[in-house]
Amino acid sequence: MTPQEVVNLSTSAVAEIRAATTAEAVEALRIKYISRNGLLPALMKMMKDTSATDRPAMGRALNAFRERVTAALTEMKGATASAGAPSETFDFSLPGTWPAVGVMHPVSSVIEEAVRIFSQLGFTVADGPDIETAFNNFDALNTAPHHPSRDARDTFWFEDGRLLRTQTSPVQIRVMQSRKPPVRIINPGRCYRRDTTDATHAANFHQIEGLYVDTKPVSLADLKSTLAHFAREMMGPGVKIRFRPHFFPFTEPSVEVDFSCHLCKGRGCRVCKQSGWIEIAGAGMVDSRVYKKIGYDEECYGYAFGMGVERIAMIRHGVTDLRHLYTNDLRYLRQFA
Ligand code: PHE
Repeated sequence: MTPQEVVNLSTSAVAEIRAATTAEAVEALRIKYISRNGLLPALMKMMKDTSATDRPAMGRALNAFRERVTAALTEMKGATASAGAPSETFDFSLPGTWPAVGVMHPVSSVIEEAVRIFSQLGFTVADGPDIETAFNNFDALNTAPHHPSRDARDTFWFEDGRLLRTQTSPVQIRVMQSRKPPVRIINPGRCYRRDTTDATHAANFHQIEGLYVDTKPVSLADLKSTLAHFAREMMGPGVKIRFRPHFFPFTEPSVEVDFSCHLCKGRGCRVCKQSGWIEIAGAGMVDSRVYKKIGYDEECYGYAFGMGVERIAMIRHGVTDLRHLYTNDLRYLRQFA
């Protein structure tokens, strides 16, 4: 047999394979041409009888035979398999394509958990808009007309004199204007300040406001025990809280509230800037001037607090940079599932 005859054989074999219409026929041709007892091994055996001058051409012809026939078999195997009825080849045991399922964002889960904890203490959730009046955000909260927080470098103002609330405290005003004491509310919501974004600041962040006002005495000790209970429920039984004296126009006395750092257990780490404490909230006893501004004339006692939600989420999950919470990298956020 000459190399040319081998080439002719491969051409007719390919034509025969292409004409096959069933998977069984393709398999029969595979056996006929390239299996151990097929034509190809038989042709290979003839190599030793081929003259030395013809041998390279014979080798090429045999290689081409194997390649062309194998390619045609593979092609027709695919074609005949997909020609079968779909119901016969569909494998119901294969896993399906799942729709992408999201996870709760750490900020949302802190809010949800806080609502649960304060609900157990009798607080209900109040609401207020992100766009506020200067009266609710500043005046009624006893904030002087020239207080620096009103400055356009700190507050986003609209041309009509309204603003994006800089704190959730205006909800205190809305609640007291619409209800008589006792009131016991929390308000989780967005706040806006013209802060330059860095590891611990964002122009848009969340606070949880709390307000309790009653006609019977309420003390700073009540505030402290409420926040201590909240801290333990939120962070675990080992967490401590501390009050530092501070000033807010609408509370007297005023405090800043720190949680002991949950990550280093107070030993000092990157997140708490080596201090062992993290500032979480501003708080205090509602200033009597606020009761006057909103028209509570009975004798009232009460406390208010406003906590930073992102701060809590950061120490809860060991987030070292606030910006990670808002870059929407699902690989990052999914780990909090
Ligand atoms: N609104 C204050 C702030 O954003 C926090 C605060 C709330 C302080 C309630 C006292 C009482 O800094």
